[in-house]
Amino acid sequence: MDTAEISKPRLVSLTEDADKSPDDELLQLVQTLPKEQGWAVSNLYLYQDFWCTAHFLKPLISFQRHFRAFDSDVIVATFPKCGTTWLKALVFSTLYRNQFARKDTPLLSFTPHQLVRFLEHDLYLNNSCPDLENICVYKPRLFATHVPHASLPASVKDSNCKIVYLCRNPMDVFVSLWLFTDKLREENQEPLSLDKVFDKFCRGIYIYGPFFDQVLGYWKASQENPDKILFLKYEDLKEDISCQLKHLAVFLGVPFTEEEEKQGVVEEIAKICTFEKLQELEVNRKGLFITGVPNKDFFRKGEVGDWSNYLTPAMVERLEKLIQEKLDNSGLTFKLSSTASDA
Ligand code: A3P
Repeated sequence: MDTAEISKPRLVSLTEDADKSPDDELLQLVQTLPKEQGWAVSNLYLYQDFWCTAHFLKPLISFQRHFRAFDSDVIVATFPKCGTTWLKALVFSTLYRNQFARKDTPLLSFTPHQLVRFLEHDLYLNNSCPDLENICVYKPRLFATHVPHASLPASVKDSNCKIVYLCRNPMDVFVSLWLFTDKLREENQEPLSLDKVFDKFCRGIYIYGPFFDQVLGYWKASQENPDKILFLKYEDLKEDISCQLKHLAVFLGVPFTEEEEKQGVVEEIAKICTFEKLQELEVNRKGLFITGVPNKDFFRKGEVGDWSNYLTPAMVERLEKLIQEKLDNSGLTFKLSSTASDA
């Protein structure tokens, strides 16, 4: 492999073994992993049954090795493009609503990704043991991750910390991921061919893929332990945000009081977190996310069923078959358009 792939950002200690340099250990590991070309620039490596870039292996492993969950922690977990940005804003606003005046919500000055930071993509990126106590301004601590349930650190699974998982119908996820990734390509690169990436999507080859494995992992875990994992769907949030917010607040142990409901607090939170509201805020229109992606790229259209503007009938048929095959007997269903019932 190309060592340049793992040398940015600079690797810090991966191992307790003083005889081996962390870079050597990581290189050795990477060389044993199945490899495929990614959608844009980087190669992808199959680590613990999901695909990730070499660049993120190091912080991912640090997160797995060193993170110690508290019982009071809340972790927002998603597959990329399922509405992570929205969920972060919703959970932040609900959990901490009594820690600031709502008209001065930090969402006006910080992006949802700055307020609810990714563990593997951000906090552990350049530091194998970040000082999480001091980094988390609000309490209880609130973090985000894209890591599949099976690969979460043991302390997340063994403690009483809570996980809020959000998923979305795979057709919209695919289109959102394709258009987002296309923006990441270098200027001199060809636009990402829809056909090519569609085939990779169906084979599960993209960052954090396969989609169905991740979604089913959290789905099964939430069925086994509903007090620990709240499983939400993007389409349900779109359909009835007030009802979903109340459900979320109960799950987080901070139910809205009658007084709050009378005062319209639920609607206020829903409103500040809407696509339209967040997208127009200067903080979300300017600047870059840690990975160098412009903040504005996290807000594209925010609709259910936009896939129908891009996918050919043959693609729809292939994805429908895949959905049926993968979700068969799981009890998990997805709404594919804003008018359709679950499929
Ligand atoms: P589209 O590309 O379909 O528009 P993530 O935050 O996981 O990266 O997901 C991004 C997707 O969520 C994008 O979908 C984006 O437009 C949408 N999104 C971002 N903020 C949203 C919000 N407040 N409400 C609904 N959808 C939102």
